[in-house]
Amino acid sequence: MKLFLDTANLAEIRQAAAWGVICGVTTNPSLAAREKEEFSAILPQICDLVDGPVSAEVLAQDYEGMVTEARQLAAIHKNVNIKIPITPEGMQAVKTLAGEGIKTNVTLVFSANQALLAARAGAAFVSPFIGRLDDIGHNGVELVEEIVALFKIHGIDTEVIAASIRHTAHVPAVALAGAHIGTIPFKVLRQMFNHPLTDSGIERFLADWQKALKG
Ligand code: E4P
Repeated sequence: MKLFLDTANLAEIRQAAAWGVICGVTTNPSLAAREKEEFSAILPQICDLVDGPVSAEVLAQDYEGMVTEARQLAAIHKNVNIKIPITPEGMQAVKTLAGEGIKTNVTLVFSANQALLAARAGAAFVSPFIGRLDDIGHNGVELVEEIVALFKIHGIDTEVIAASIRHTAHVPAVALAGAHIGTIPFKVLRQMFNHPLTDSGIERFLADWQKALKG
């Protein structure tokens, strides 16, 4: 499973890119709204930091509006793909954009039916939101498993991005469920490094080395 960073924060993206562990970024209007800079100024900087897919979401909800916004966003950088919600108008826009070679990431997916519709419209990526499903007492990881199995049976090459990841245990769970990509908030990505035995192991190696030097 590839790792993307789920943020519009440039400092977080710079740090995660420096660690060498991410190969893409996803954003959404809520994440963009947390930043001081205009999103139109942030997006090209994200593309400079990470050489891989960068998702930017349309705000329009009508077909023409979505297509117009998508074309403007896609013109910013070759790696920009367009996040579009799973609605009938949205899928019409996905079809048009796919015909123009513009990749889309269909967002706010909460069922296998929605994922199938997105794939058939021509989405490059589909994003099931696992944390939000867990929040209402459903099982987000099981949905990822279901979508991955369904795509495999039918030879669908749309990539599944496990989104709305809330904690470190979600990451291996969606990887084992077969997600192609997990998009991870910075805090969770940082926590993925942690293990108490790693910390105590480093301490012991250094202490043993120091002892040997003194002896
Ligand atoms: C990414 O594609 C999604 O927009 C994001 O993961 C949603 O996460 P949230 O449910 O924590 O807002």
